[in-house]
Amino acid sequence: MASSFCHSWVSRIDLRLISECAGTPLFIYSEAQLLKNIERIKEAATAAGLDDRVELYIPFFPNSNPHVLRALQDVAAGVLLQLPGEYRILRQFGFDKFIVSPGHVSDDEIDFWTRTGLPTFLSSLDEVRYQLRSGAPSVSVRIDSLGSRKPGIKYDELAALADMLAEHGRELDCFEAYCGSEHSPQEMIGIIENLFSIFQTYFPTARAINFAGGYGFVYEEWDESEKHFDWNRYFTALRKTADRMGVPDRVKFLFEPARDVLADTGALLLKVKRDVITNPVTNLVVTDGSRMLMPSAQFRNRRHNVVFLDASMAEIQPANASGVHAELRGRSVLRHDYILPGQYWVPDGVDSRSHLVILDVGAYCATQHMEFMNVQSAAEVLVDAAGSAHLITARGDELDKWRHLLPEKQKLEG
Ligand SMILES: Cc1ncc(COP(=O)(O)O)c(C=O)c1O
Repeated sequence: MASSFCHSWVSRIDLRLISECAGTPLFIYSEAQLLKNIERIKEAATAAGLDDRVELYIPFFPNSNPHVLRALQDVAAGVLLQLPGEYRILRQFGFDKFIVSPGHVSDDEIDFWTRTGLPTFLSSLDEVRYQLRSGAPSVSVRIDSLGSRKPGIKYDELAALADMLAEHGRELDCFEAYCGSEHSPQEMIGIIENLFSIFQTYFPTARAINFAGGYGFVYEEWDESEKHFDWNRYFTALRKTADRMGVPDRVKFLFEPARDVLADTGALLLKVKRDVITNPVTNLVVTDGSRMLMPSAQFRNRRHNVVFLDASMAEIQPANASGVHAELRGRSVLRHDYILPGQYWVPDGVDSRSHLVILDVGAYCATQHMEFMNVQSAAEVLVDAAGSAHLITARGDELDKWRHLLPEKQKLEG
């Protein structure tokens, strides 16, 4: 069976030029794909009559390169932050539309976010109590409606939260609920009703409801319409449920999708370093990458599509080809340094002149990958909407791991 790689933007860019200029391992991102993914969501919101009520805030932690996200500013999409450093770097790059979901934080950090004036979703009653006492102009919370161990005010604490706000004569600005990443589209639709019930029961004057992320992305599909979340169906259900439950038109709906917007904007280009190694235990493809510590692949066992390229950067067709199943290795000595879990089909013809492309690495990959066991970090390239490629992160230096090492030890004195 053919890989359908030809449908991906990666097959249409000049990989040879890019790898000659920037080397490997290399993350490559497509601005056009990012814009397409945002547009798909916006079109669905418009079709459901929700265009002036839906606001998108793309999380910064799954892809923390300001160059990659720059185009969000052109389409009025904001960024979701969790750390003060993220805010500082993005301000330097001219971003100005943010919300903040910081997890559990200290009083000092609550003060930092209060000074910025940004909607900040606090995760415990204690943090809200502090913010109310400090006179912050607006209060927003993150709710863990599932009773999981994620940061968030638990469902059973909502009445106490409503009472606390009333005691201070305050109203909730907005509440966020991240329901996890494992729900089917039907379950995501079911969750809408839960959030509207929370709105009606506890916070009927809230300005906005933040549905956070969790919008599924199917890594193992090739076709874009199969890979992406069905926003048309979702927004139609959202609109119907809001009307049925009497959620007023003034209430805005916020979303923080990461995988659905970012995953297929990125590809990882690796060099195969040796002909396929076959030993009595296994078959191995040795690459210049290193273990991808990404939840998508390693914790959830999601299966990324891969493509092998020959010396001229043409796809080595897996179709009807003979080959072997092999493991895709990184470059360190660690037993677990596999770029991806499991085995992949490696067609005949893959050798030390080949490259390997791992698709759909735009979310939770570069941020959690490389600089692992002293391996230097990969470079990053952005192919802009006009089609030109730009280096946006230089390759790490081989001594990067020791960049903060002091030449002489310093005695700590009181
Ligand atoms: C608060 C919050 N918003 C958004 C996201 C993005 O989630 P996803 O990749 O499922 O869209 C996450 C992921 O952990 C999250 O914790």
